[in-house]
Amino acid sequence: MKILAIESSCDETAAAVVSDDGKVISNVVATQIEDHAAFGGVVPEIASRRHVELIGPVVAQALKEAGINLDGIDGVAVTQGPGLVGALLVGISYAKALAYGLGVPLVGVNHLEGHLTAARIEHDFDYPYIGMVVSGGHTSIYLVESPSKVRQLGQTLDDAAGEAFDKVAKLLDLGYPGGVIIDRISKGVDHQEIELPRPMVNDDSYNFSFSGLKTAVLNHVMGLKIFPEMDLKFSGVPRAKTPAPGKAEYIPKIAAAFQAAAVDVIVHKLVRALQDHGMERLVISGGVACNSALRERLQEKSAELGFAFYAPSPRYCTDNAAMIGMASIRDFQEKNYAAPDMNAVSRWSVPS
Ligand code: KG4
Ligand code: ZN
Repeated sequence: MKILAIESSCDETAAAVVSDDGKVISNVVATQIEDHAAFGGVVPEIASRRHVELIGPVVAQALKEAGINLDGIDGVAVTQGPGLVGALLVGISYAKALAYGLGVPLVGVNHLEGHLTAARIEHDFDYPYIGMVVSGGHTSIYLVESPSKVRQLGQTLDDAAGEAFDKVAKLLDLGYPGGVIIDRISKGVDHQEIELPRPMVNDDSYNFSFSGLKTAVLNHVMGLKIFPEMDLKFSGVPRAKTPAPGKAEYIPKIAAAFQAAAVDVIVHKLVRALQDHGMERLVISGGVACNSALRERLQEKSAELGFAFYAPSPRYCTDNAAMIGMASIRDFQEKNYAAPDMNAVSRWSVPS
């Protein structure tokens, strides 16, 4: 069976062809990063409009790369939520029309379940495990006992980790999206030179808070007067306006200090979740799971403490349709099809 999967929950228009034995035959992602960069974040209305323009060509490219035509498709899977409602509706409407026109079944997929399933594209592992989705929209830890038994242990109480990376990058005038830039410029930099807090690291929940860490970065920047002038009106996030002497040496240090603090808290909570629940497997996914410092630290912890650690390759960590196709297989096998009136679910925390 060949499944055409479609993902449009945020700012990536994606399509993939996946077989029901779990192989990714093609995987195409059109990112809208350029369209949103000037605004320093995703603008929902722009995202919806771009999805409308991109979805046809992206699906055509996924079919072409898979070497099949539409009549080679046996089922359509689409992200049903969570995400931006207008963006989701573009993918859902397209998928519904396609499935109806082709006379094949349609499956609606939870985006978070997609992220948690992404690691299965390249790795084979059993249940149960501790799973984490850490992205621009989510920072949640799950106890995954079986495909249908997923319990959320904790989540961020304010900003998602990726959102904090992006806001700190914006504050430092590094560009958008900031996660990958902070990751790059922090490499080999001494992160201990600037001390930042580790919010909620010692409480006994599995929750996170990143907005205080972002403010700590802001206070440090302001306190040092590295940027003599800050534009406090820019989209609610202060942004450096005027470079000052010392800026070039300071930026990588504060970026590295921020990254180290964020990574520390995430690693600390994940290790505790593993130990508290007697789990031997850890699976992470989402854009921030691309972060090299996070992956290195978890690799070290896995060697030290003896748990198995699985993270998808970066192209399957960030939003993509291959993970949606993978997560849909069970529903196709169980004939858990979507009704014609399936709708977008913009808020949907637990992936089951
Ligand atoms: O999973 P994703 O593509 O979209 C969401 O569902 O949110 O994640 C995007 C987020 C952005 O905030 C981006 O800055 C962050 O992931 N990100 C990173 C890295 N690569 C992407 N954060 C830290 N380090 C990275 N290498
Ligand atoms: Zn995502």
